[in-house]
Amino acid sequence: MKTAPILLLSLYAGLSPVLAVNVRDDFDAQNYPSGDVITRDVAVIGGGATGTYGAVKLRDAGKSVVLVEKEGLLGGHVNSYTDPSTGVSIDYGVQAFWNISVTRDYFALLNLTTGLYQPTPLTRFYADFQTGAPVEGVRSSFNFSAYAAQLEKYPQLLYSWDLPSPIPEDLLLPFGAFIQKYNLGDEAFDVYFSAQGVSNILDELTVHVFKFIDESFLSSVSGNAIVPTPNNAEIYAKASAYLGDDVLLSSTVVAAKRPANSSSSSSSGGGIRLIVQTPTGKKLIKASKLLISIPPLLSNTAPFDLSPTEQTLFSHWRSTDYYTMLLRNTGLPAGAQFANANASTATYNIPLLPAAYQITETRIPGLFYAWYGSPVRVTEDEVKEDVSSVIARLQNATTTAALEFVEFRSHTPFKLVVDAGAIGDGFYGELEAIQGQRDTWWTGAAFMSHDASVLYNFTQALLPGIIG
Ligand SMILES: Cc1cc2nc3c(=O)[nH]c(=O)nc-3n(C[C@H](O)[C@H](O)[C@H](O)COP(=O)(O)OP(=O)(O)OC[C@H]3O[C@@H](n4cnc5c(N)ncnc54)[C@H](O)[C@@H]3O)c2cc1C
Ligand SMILES: *[C@@H]1O[C@H](CO)[C@@H](O)[C@H](O)[C@H]1NC(C)=O
Ligand SMILES: *[C@@H]1O[C@H](CO)[C@@H](O)[C@H](O)[C@H]1NC(C)=O
Ligand SMILES: *[C@@H]1O[C@H](CO)[C@@H](O)[C@H](O)[C@H]1NC(C)=O
Ligand SMILES: *[C@@H]1O[C@H](CO)[C@@H](O)[C@H](O)[C@H]1NC(C)=O
Ligand SMILES: *[C@@H]1O[C@H](CO)[C@@H](O)[C@H](O)[C@H]1NC(C)=O
Ligand SMILES: *[C@@H]1O[C@H](CO)[C@@H](O)[C@H](O)[C@H]1NC(C)=O
Ligand SMILES: *[C@@H]1O[C@H](CO)[C@@H](O)[C@H](O)[C@H]1NC(C)=O
Repeated sequence: MKTAPILLLSLYAGLSPVLAVNVRDDFDAQNYPSGDVITRDVAVIGGGATGTYGAVKLRDAGKSVVLVEKEGLLGGHVNSYTDPSTGVSIDYGVQAFWNISVTRDYFALLNLTTGLYQPTPLTRFYADFQTGAPVEGVRSSFNFSAYAAQLEKYPQLLYSWDLPSPIPEDLLLPFGAFIQKYNLGDEAFDVYFSAQGVSNILDELTVHVFKFIDESFLSSVSGNAIVPTPNNAEIYAKASAYLGDDVLLSSTVVAAKRPANSSSSSSSGGGIRLIVQTPTGKKLIKASKLLISIPPLLSNTAPFDLSPTEQTLFSHWRSTDYYTMLLRNTGLPAGAQFANANASTATYNIPLLPAAYQITETRIPGLFYAWYGSPVRVTEDEVKEDVSSVIARLQNATTTAALEFVEFRSHTPFKLVVDAGAIGDGFYGELEAIQGQRDTWWTGAAFMSHDASVLYNFTQALLPGIIG
């Protein structure tokens, strides 16, 4: 009886060092076993397209780095799948890369073998996914010439957010009104279909469509796209091997200390402190510089000790939900691509979201992929239920009992944008001004556009500042 309180006390005593790290944010290296203190020149957060590029190039420039990624592997929006029986690989996330020098240089540094991107020939069917009924007369030729003629008026959009002042009102028109104004009806469905992951496109600001379906995209679809062999995941296999133990997978930053804003950031070295939750416990990162590549939503960046300026900027973002998946036993014909369409020509046959955009056979016979977008939050179960119902309708059946979800990937949050008011108030200029403040640099699609090659270029331009 008398031993109970003593036992309890000793239990608490035994736990106290752990509690000290768990309960409050402990930035003092002395409170960590030395093996749990990671000292580097640069800490990089997020191991998708831009974070991995940054980490590899900084290492190549002689800097020590650590890369923190929340998932169990690097790659971000890249989803590759290898058929266990035939060894054939397919990509059902990021498809291809614009063949420009920055892409070629990066792939060469990683010793990747590349080839021309060659999409699989498919037979296309248009159907209203809400009813399964075929839709006739959809205008689609993948001839973007009239759209491109409008886009060409704003060449600076490819590599920047430097908008003329005042901002041309065309750029802030809803894209539906822009289509009418410039008579782009023949190309509207193709722009919608290509801009997968964007919100309901006719309501979206024209500038956001221009940022997505940009010169890099138009050049890529006209034959200037490359892919690594055997699949896009190979980029990350090579990068993981190169970075070795400097990658922390399944890890997130739970608290951060960054130096106060100063104009002479290069002299303030060593001021970044990050507490990182890893599969082997909490670790402390001490770094001179920080490169953040994760979607900069408030919910995602809260642990980073945000300044009032950063908080205000990041409170403006709106994002979409976007999912990709692989399916077997669909009962759909071989070589088919089913494209969702609305019978109404009032919307150029463009259907409303949330919905699947397409259900398409991959190069692996019998394996289909589906891409699903939504301007509002949807759960994985809701998406799967909707996709199952759509497939049943396309089959003219009542159920899809045998349907199998082989893979299901979330690309949410996707396509971070701000509204016309914020753009008019100089949002993107203010965003650019935080680069380098507090020894922190920011990269990723939200800061530029959703093209990996353009983002490599954007990240490359930050490196001299980070290297200092
Ligand atoms: C289905 C699909 C197809 C696409 N096809 C193409 C294409 O063919 N060509 C092309 O150029 N672009 C394509 N894109 C666009 C693509 O978004 C960009 O090319 C690029 O991947 C964006 O890079 P990023 O570094 O901003 O984001 P990501 O690649 O998403 O990297 C962000 C990383 O940060 C990690 N992360 C997020 N939060 C945290 C956190 N709190 N802590 C730690 N890590 C975190 C994520 O897991 C992820 O690995 C496609 C996108 C999708 C979704
Ligand atoms: C990279 O971007 C800059 C603009 O920031 C541009 O001038 C340059 O041509 C780009 N380089 C490549 C290889 O695309
Ligand atoms: C690429 O190959 C060279 C020569 O074999 C090697 O030194 C280098 O480490 C490799 N780089 C990567 C990223 O694997
Ligand atoms: C990529 O571009 C380079 C330079 O223009 C060219 O030499 C190469 O053949 C292109 N690659 C492919 C696969 O088309
Ligand atoms: C694309 O459309 C334009 C008209 O918008 C036309 O002049 C051109 O010939 C078309 N190109 C092809 C390859 O069909
Ligand atoms: C940093 O300081 C400058 C003035 O020196 C100020 O204009 C800017 O808003 C500050 N940035 C942040 C992120 O606090
Ligand atoms: C199809 O278009 C009609 C007319 O514009 C609209 O009322 C309806 O909501 C649309 N449905 C879908 C699923 O897009
Ligand atoms: C389903 O039925 C429609 C006619 O109602 C037909 O046009 C369509 O091809 C059928 N779909 C399949 C997959 O058999």
